[in-house]
Amino acid sequence: AIERTLSIIKPDAVAKNVIGKIYDRFESAGLKVIASRMAHLSQAEAEQFYAVHAARPFFKDLVSFMISGPVMIQVLEGEGAIAKNRDLMGATDPKKADAGTIRADFADSIDANAVHGSDAPETAAVEVAFFFAGMNVFNS
Ligand code: CMP
Repeated sequence: AIERTLSIIKPDAVAKNVIGKIYDRFESAGLKVIASRMAHLSQAEAEQFYAVHAARPFFKDLVSFMISGPVMIQVLEGEGAIAKNRDLMGATDPKKADAGTIRADFADSIDANAVHGSDAPETAAVEVAFFFAGMNVFNS
């Protein structure tokens, strides 16, 4: 099915100047960028976005990393977009990510892991709505 997924290029990858290289991975795999914006998240925004992880021991570090610099946020659309984007990203921990994945090529650590991608249709819908009002999504 044609799906939409929420993708974030995290502060480490934005600082490395590889937004374009990561967009090329999406486009070469048949995913289309149908919404995008750069933002420097507030602590409240990052805490709300990652609320599902609030009880995890890594939550504080995750939030402080995500607000350490600007991020690039996009909606990707395409056939099986959610799983396809997760395949492109590779494992959460870049040390475990397959060769040729975004995290293997651009990430430094489990916190500075270059990208976020929605993990299921339900979370994708919530995450897309969190960052983009309907009028800012363009499926031409
Ligand atoms: P992300 O896909 O953005 O979702 C939550 C983030 O928490 C994850 O990527 C990692 O960057 C970060 N994180 C840090 N430690 C862990 C952990 N032990 N398990 C899962 N995610 C972690």
